[in-house]
Amino acid sequence: MITKNKFICENISRTEAGELAFAGVPLSCMAREYSTPLYLFDEDRIRERCRTYLRAVRDGFGLGAKVLYASKAASFKRLYEIMREEGMGIDVVSTGEIFTAYSAGFPLESAYFHSNNKTDRDIEYAMEHGVGTFVVDNEEELLAINEIAISRGIRQRVLLRITPGIDPHTYAAVSTGKVDSKFGSAIETGQADAITALALSLDGIELRGFHCHVGSQVFDSDVYIRAAEVMLRYVAHINDKYAFLAAELDLGGGYGVRYVEEQPEIDIAANIAEVAEYMNALADKLGIPMPQVAFEPGRSIVADAGLTLYTVGTVKRIPGYKTYVSVDGGMTDNPRFALYGAQYTILPVAAPTPDNSVECSVVGRCCESGDIIQESVPLPPDMKRGDLIACLTTGAYNYSMASNYNRLGRPAVVMLSGGKSYLAVKRETEEDITSLDV
Ligand code: LLP
Repeated sequence: MITKNKFICENISRTEAGELAFAGVPLSCMAREYSTPLYLFDEDRIRERCRTYLRAVRDGFGLGAKVLYASKAASFKRLYEIMREEGMGIDVVSTGEIFTAYSAGFPLESAYFHSNNKTDRDIEYAMEHGVGTFVVDNEEELLAINEIAISRGIRQRVLLRITPGIDPHTYAAVSTGKVDSKFGSAIETGQADAITALALSLDGIELRGFHCHVGSQVFDSDVYIRAAEVMLRYVAHINDKYAFLAAELDLGGGYGVRYVEEQPEIDIAANIAEVAEYMNALADKLGIPMPQVAFEPGRSIVADAGLTLYTVGTVKRIPGYKTYVSVDGGMTDNPRFALYGAQYTILPVAAPTPDNSVECSVVGRCCESGDIIQESVPLPPDMKRGDLIACLTTGAYNYSMASNYNRLGRPAVVMLSGGKSYLAVKRETEEDITSLDV
């Protein structure tokens, strides 16, 4: 029997014996069956998140509204099957993501192709695979898409990525809505109008509307209202200036998720309802029909549906200094602390002991001191080789950002649903790692 405890996400609990469980499955069973390090994904949670978004956008904006899963957060075939089954669209950013979705049988007509620098090959590849819509970053890219579309005898549907000039108050590496961003064309500088005029003049381009994405791990709900306002006013402005009425308006992704207790949990449905109410009123005021609205969540679909399970290898106690708990993974499977100082909740899998007070640095096995998963993690003083620990909320930007540094193989990905587990991605072997060496 699994007893409910209060954890940062509902899918975390402890068994009667006190052992940590995820999606109703005791974690030691997963370690025994699949070995560690291991990525676990709670399929039921992913589906629930998709449904929450879909319901919210349809309630707020009508049945034509879309949710595009930003698959950079986590991309492997099984996820695209789930997205197809749930009626989600997807955002893809590379030929690798396109091919993964294609291989999973995802209808690429419902895919939106992002990135700020699509090569000619990327463009050809996406068109060959029937990607429905391109989200165009800049004029050079637009001209290249136009030329290739004409040479293929098609008109490519596009959205233009516009920079609304909004600071989302998140960490710099994921802030994208400010005027000086590397992404998109800014309204303030006149570049947005210029690329719109250009798009309307090109025979190979079918302009559908506009896109913006202000940043990631955003908690300030006001950010979405402000971005939506700027974008809707822009739609009205372009209607006045060029008599072009946008059919689509994609507001990007970015809703923050709870990694540690101190962070709030965003009520996505309530937030989208608020944005919708504001936008519907504004559209009326501006006298324009509401375009078909899309949201593009990545992190908030998969983050708390993920957990990484590790086995402790060594515990190094440096008297008067600190205690290092080294696990069998590291920055290769989760580079987010090394890159952003990202916060995580780490828990021992075994039943909690009364004295849980030693602050440890949980580190990986890579050859550099920056290979840290988290600092100041309270762990039992008797942690030892062979113990299991779990890093929570690793579903987003972990597997997708994993590397082979030190020629370490990426962990397997196991899905959990209804108390059962199945393999979604195999563990990378030494043979896999050398498979491209000639
Ligand atoms: N749409 C666009 C155009 C994006 O660039 C992104 C994320 C999303 C949607 C999804 O945003 P989300 O809902 O996941 O916040 N590696 C960083 C995150 C980079 C986000 C990049 N763009 C991290 O680990 O925090």
